[in-house]
Amino acid sequence: MDIDKLLKELGIEEKIRLIVGAGFFTTKIPGVAGETRAIDRLGIPSIALSDGPAGIRIHPIRFGDKSTYYTTAFPNEIALASTWNPEIVEKVGKAIGAEAREYGIDVLLAPGINIHRVPLCGRNFEYFSEDPLLTAILAASYVKGVQSEGVGATLKHFIANEQETGRMSIDVMVSERALREIYLRAFEIAIELSKPWAVMAAYNKIYGKYCTQNSWLLTNVLREDWRYNGLVMTDWWAGDNPVEQIKAGIDLIMPGDDRVVQILLEAYRKGELDEETIDARARRVLELISKSLKWKGYKPSNNPNLEENAKIAYEAAVDGAILLKNNGALPISQEKTVAVFGKGSYLTIKGGLGSGNTYPRYVVSIVDGLKERGIKINNELDKIYRETMVPLWFDQDAVTWYRNMREYVFKEGDTRLISWLVIEFTESILSRLMALTISEDFIDEETLDRIAKESDIALITISRISSEGYDRKAVKGDFYLRDDEYRLIQKVSEKFHSYNKKVVVILNIPSPIEIISWRDLVDAILVIWLSGQEIGRAVADIILGRVSPSGKLPITWPKHLSEIPAIKTFPGEPKENPKRIVYEEGIYVGYRYYDTFGIEPAYEFGYGLSYTLFEFRDLRVYMDDDTIVAKLRIKNIGNAIGKEVAQLYVRAPRGKIDKPYQELKGFYKTKPLKPGEEEEVEIKVPIKYLASYDGNKWVIERGEYEIRVGASSRDIRLRTSITIEKDVCFDKHWYRVEC
Ligand code: BGC
Repeated sequence: MDIDKLLKELGIEEKIRLIVGAGFFTTKIPGVAGETRAIDRLGIPSIALSDGPAGIRIHPIRFGDKSTYYTTAFPNEIALASTWNPEIVEKVGKAIGAEAREYGIDVLLAPGINIHRVPLCGRNFEYFSEDPLLTAILAASYVKGVQSEGVGATLKHFIANEQETGRMSIDVMVSERALREIYLRAFEIAIELSKPWAVMAAYNKIYGKYCTQNSWLLTNVLREDWRYNGLVMTDWWAGDNPVEQIKAGIDLIMPGDDRVVQILLEAYRKGELDEETIDARARRVLELISKSLKWKGYKPSNNPNLEENAKIAYEAAVDGAILLKNNGALPISQEKTVAVFGKGSYLTIKGGLGSGNTYPRYVVSIVDGLKERGIKINNELDKIYRETMVPLWFDQDAVTWYRNMREYVFKEGDTRLISWLVIEFTESILSRLMALTISEDFIDEETLDRIAKESDIALITISRISSEGYDRKAVKGDFYLRDDEYRLIQKVSEKFHSYNKKVVVILNIPSPIEIISWRDLVDAILVIWLSGQEIGRAVADIILGRVSPSGKLPITWPKHLSEIPAIKTFPGEPKENPKRIVYEEGIYVGYRYYDTFGIEPAYEFGYGLSYTLFEFRDLRVYMDDDTIVAKLRIKNIGNAIGKEVAQLYVRAPRGKIDKPYQELKGFYKTKPLKPGEEEEVEIKVPIKYLASYDGNKWVIERGEYEIRVGASSRDIRLRTSITIEKDVCFDKHWYRVEC
């Protein structure tokens, strides 16, 4: 594409049309979130942008069309982060990229890389971690995967969109140090490592200005400090002034409409917006289009390899499952009979709702996964669940009826009944209502006694849903167990333990829930998160010990919400309808806070058990130019095959700048190691990762830095240190400067 020539040929209105999306309700591919406008006269095609992190979100069924357009539901990002495995995350990205390509989508609106500041953020399932480095490395892998298929990826939401309450306008007050070291750092490193085609500016304000209208953020930081040269778009209907958006550095206003085109045109005519700025923005849009498969003439097949991708979704779900507790209950042998409790075992939740939702061909529930893998389940209990709880909506028949109806409506093109929006809305409302209304405690004592006698082990699934647009709540039924859920766990545990049988809880949840009031009642706890369409198969294989769990927490699991400093200001002030949120905790987010202030969490950052044990030894550390190289050996000294994650934390010396107790600076997940097998591990840490922001430059203060390597942030197995002889300073472009 000869962009210079095109810019000369395009009229001012055409250029403005290029930088304003084509609208939300008129997209050519049903369900994509947006498109750019074509300029047919010059052969400039329109490109399609689609959500979202867990897979492509397009409508699976189209009016009057007999074909289907299902996509794979991959594990949500928090589950991907729990893998600590850049390779598998890249594979997932690549699979999503391939599906995008085959469905004619040019740019994916993912990954989301906001930071888990509080466990209650309603979109945490769409974000990786509380740690910027873990986030950045995994996000970069995801982006590389997507882009290797010729599809662009979008880092979102830039910046400080750590909550849904008031998200369209809340003003975030955060110190520049915390912003640079925690929130921006995730974007900065991900951009450096993976060169994403696009960045999406967030809805909220920062320092009093909408992110989409904030030239400090979009121009000074992103373009000047970081030299980012991809495209910057708005989040959908963000901000309140398109002219300011374009001036501040937005290249593409989404989803866009003719009204916005007129506003920009008017501003140009009045001399409030100059042609040079419009040209610069149109240039970026053209650059994006020129990279797209659409421009390159690729003909999508509408037939992605869903079979293959389901395998990748399965692999990622298994890799991200975290074993929190295990008193010898797991794994179980194949001949055991399992009593399966909890409605989440039947209507297992595959992923969160909102733009991060997906429409796969199927979701394997936990109970179906167990059955499919040949695990015997207690039939009486199964019947009770199917018959007693089901008059309500999640009975398989009702689900099938609902699906058929939906298919009918779509295939026949009968628009009189329901529109897609209503269907989607109903679906999310139904699952919420279901979660709220059905009691888990409905099995009488006698029946429970019989079930316990006739089964070898109990499995209880606790599920929670979460959605874009809402934060989770510190109430029973959300962060806390409902009374009936608690009673179910209590009664089943008492009964099974009275027969010397064990109880396992599966957590099918979007982010942590309260755990300490009930964890001692049960023998094992496995967190499967919202792990996509293959979730039931992943649970079954882990329970059977066909694969050892190897996931690690990408967040700290709190004992009490009140111990989290950020909770004090969440969701902002005034409490009712917050307009402003102060990140008072500064850089002390997640483990940085727990470790520095000596607070004991329920489970620490990086924690996760396995069915085997690992020995860490021979830590050697040396400097190679500006990189710290750490080498060590990890050996499987247990009896099962398994993988371990070596986590490298650095503890800085006391200097002028306040430092957290320790910070994650690198990690490595081993290959599956057989009993007795060992692997030589190498972790490289660019020295600049040690720097702190002093208000104007990045500084590594001189002194002794402890290099700590372990299996979690609180299970440090090996330590050594390196000495930085004199202060090292970098400017905002990371060039060395005088201190
Ligand atoms: C969300 C974005 C999403 C966009 C398009 C917005 O509401 O915040 O994450 O990509 O909608 O669906």
